[in-house]
Amino acid sequence: MQQDVRPESMKRIETKELADAFIAEQIDLIKKQVGDKKVLLALSGGVDSSVVAALLIKAIGKNLVCVHVNHGLLRKGEPEQVIKVFKEQMNANLIYVDAVDRFLDKLAGVDDPETKRKIIGKEFIDVFAEEAKKIDGIAFLAQGTIYPDILESHGIKAHHNVGGLPEDLNFELVEPVKLLFKDEVRVVGKALGLPDEMVFRQPFPGPGLGVRCVGAITRDRLEAVRESDAILREEFAKCGLASKVWQFFTVVPDMKSVGIKDGKRAVEWAVVLRAVNTKDAMTATVEQIPYDILFKIRDRILAEVKGVNRVLFDITPKPTGTIEWE
Ligand code: XMP
Repeated sequence: MQQDVRPESMKRIETKELADAFIAEQIDLIKKQVGDKKVLLALSGGVDSSVVAALLIKAIGKNLVCVHVNHGLLRKGEPEQVIKVFKEQMNANLIYVDAVDRFLDKLAGVDDPETKRKIIGKEFIDVFAEEAKKIDGIAFLAQGTIYPDILESHGIKAHHNVGGLPEDLNFELVEPVKLLFKDEVRVVGKALGLPDEMVFRQPFPGPGLGVRCVGAITRDRLEAVRESDAILREEFAKCGLASKVWQFFTVVPDMKSVGIKDGKRAVEWAVVLRAVNTKDAMTATVEQIPYDILFKIRDRILAEVKGVNRVLFDITPKPTGTIEWE
């Protein structure tokens, strides 16, 4: 196993050559650590867990068991992409768990943000632990811990993702990217052949779209979050903002206002657009999106997303606002 401290002599992984050397070294270390035993990994499709999955697949193939839990709060197309990349292209041993109803049933009527987060976190661990129990011979648990997670125990991830592992997931850990910074993980991801969409993904909170469907989550309003988010991402990709803006998404608060649709009064939701830049997520500034782009996004959301009659742009920096709304 590796130490938790990055040696001063360790070069920053900035090139394909250095990434390839890192990959070869890690494959060796993983093989030595786990031998012919099985390793379990919760594969969300985020860059850290995806890079860990790709490394382990290279090292131990089908002895890596990936579990992808669809909690219903993922962005449009995400579960499909995980299946396509890992099952179809990398031939991974991937278990897909459709837990959508289970999560949404538990969350029904819950409007307190902290309670929502706790339910999502606990349910995730429960689903994952249940899957783990069904598989014989798991000896290790792989995790996408990265160096800032170790360094910044007061950092944003630690702040949001509290709580250790339960007894039944108490396996020895395999953490091949734990000495890397995020930009290095991305270079390694590219070298491993992961698609750009995965490698250069913006940060996405653990509770997913759940914190953007503000208030008690309903299936129809959650769809409005997911569809509007997909439109925003598509339009940002088209005009080049996707690679420039640090984080961007839509929020649909549990609030309706009067509007007019097809000549009739329509009491519907408002979609809020958020686009921010930051270095460390502790403070953030708002991206000044040109009006023509805003209008294009507005027109598409109003035409394509059910139950929405207004589009707003959140111009609040952090502080006073947080990046997410919950
Ligand atoms: P806030 O809203 O606190 O968010 O300004 C700062 C950054 O953290 C992300 N975020 C989370 N990340 N688990 C995470 O791993 C979470 O529960 C969580 N909640 C917020 C948020 O998207 C932003 O990038």
